[in-house]
Amino acid sequence: MAGEREAAALAAAIDEARLWQRHLDMARLGATPGGGVNRQAFSPADGEARRLLIRWAQELGLAASLDPIGNLFIRRPGREPQAEPVLTGSHLDSQPTGGKFDGAYGVLAGFEVLEAMQRCGMETRRPVELVVWSNEEGSRFQPACMGSVAFIGARPLAELLAARDWEGMTAGEALEAMLATLAEVPRRPLGFPVAAYLEAHIEQGPLLEAAGVPIGVVTGVQGLHRYLVEVVGEAAHAGTTPLRQRKDALKAAVSMIHALEGVMADATDTVRFTVGRFDVAPGSPNVVPSRVRFTIDLRHPEAEVLARLGGQIGPLCQAHARGCAVTVTRLSAVPPTRFHPRIVSLVRHWATALGLPHRELLSGAGHDAMHLAAVCPAGMIFVPCAGGISHNEAESARPADLAAGARVLAACLAELAAT
Ligand code: GLV
Ligand code: MN
Ligand code: MN
Repeated sequence: MAGEREAAALAAAIDEARLWQRHLDMARLGATPGGGVNRQAFSPADGEARRLLIRWAQELGLAASLDPIGNLFIRRPGREPQAEPVLTGSHLDSQPTGGKFDGAYGVLAGFEVLEAMQRCGMETRRPVELVVWSNEEGSRFQPACMGSVAFIGARPLAELLAARDWEGMTAGEALEAMLATLAEVPRRPLGFPVAAYLEAHIEQGPLLEAAGVPIGVVTGVQGLHRYLVEVVGEAAHAGTTPLRQRKDALKAAVSMIHALEGVMADATDTVRFTVGRFDVAPGSPNVVPSRVRFTIDLRHPEAEVLARLGGQIGPLCQAHARGCAVTVTRLSAVPPTRFHPRIVSLVRHWATALGLPHRELLSGAGHDAMHLAAVCPAGMIFVPCAGGISHNEAESARPADLAAGARVLAACLAELAAT
């Protein structure tokens, strides 16, 4: 087993400046004029980001591989090649107006640990693998966390690849185009046994910064449901059609959202209810809208509350249809996750041992770790981000905090890979 001293030495080998520079280099790919990134899943920028990581891995002498959903793995062998690997990582896809750190931090912190292991000549019993999960954001293709969902076998690959983006392109077509630019990377089958999974991420909320604490020991993730509501009315002339004769899909959708907003409000402000996408067709000033599609993202820490609120969406939308036809489709339903007590204790132990102030917290955001938790002991480490701002081009984090999280990650991975 890696002694405490060896794990602590690895933590000390984390290089803050190198880790920071990698964030800046990665953020050039898909950079937006507003200072953020737009690297949507399976886009050319997503492919470029993967190529950059593969090049860095090659420079360290580490091998890359890709599975059928495009999850990218960088493997550092262990003493026992057959031992189940320890996995760490996150995602490189982003929101359309995303930041430099959401996802990229977990990938780059994991890479920094591999580099530190290489430079220290550290020998681990288990292999350690860095993973870049495909389409974590679920911005372009539903469901979110497509790569980890496929990896754990929660949904069939063919069903996931059939998902269409808002322009009608399938995830399978977009993935194929991206993989064509990575033709030289060896392929591997989907899914394999994992000894443990640990993911580093910015908090994406305000708690750590407000508490002045660099490390979040994440105990779990709140539950998350996503829905697509489609409202079909009738196109009509804006100048001639009396209001009472219209089947206006837009007005129906607005009244549905208004009614839902009333039901979702709770005294403790715990429910998270978001309509993040709203498409109107045909989208002409003088045509009564014939079709609206909108998404609902609904989250709560308690499964019963989520089920109760989710169950009200269909009936409420029907009640406010105003003569239109309504279809409500549940795109995904992830129950609340509790991370494995052994991983939570390990993160707490190493934050303490490295002298880093820490606090426990539940993740408001969804992460691939919540899916891995179904197949292996899993957990997460959070670091603060400025103002708790995320899914925003202004997202930012301090180099020292990023390095602190990577140090905790390094020590935990060393210990997990030793046992
Ligand atoms: C992930 O980005 C989420 O929406 O929680
Ligand atoms: Mn993320
Ligand atoms: Mn995100």
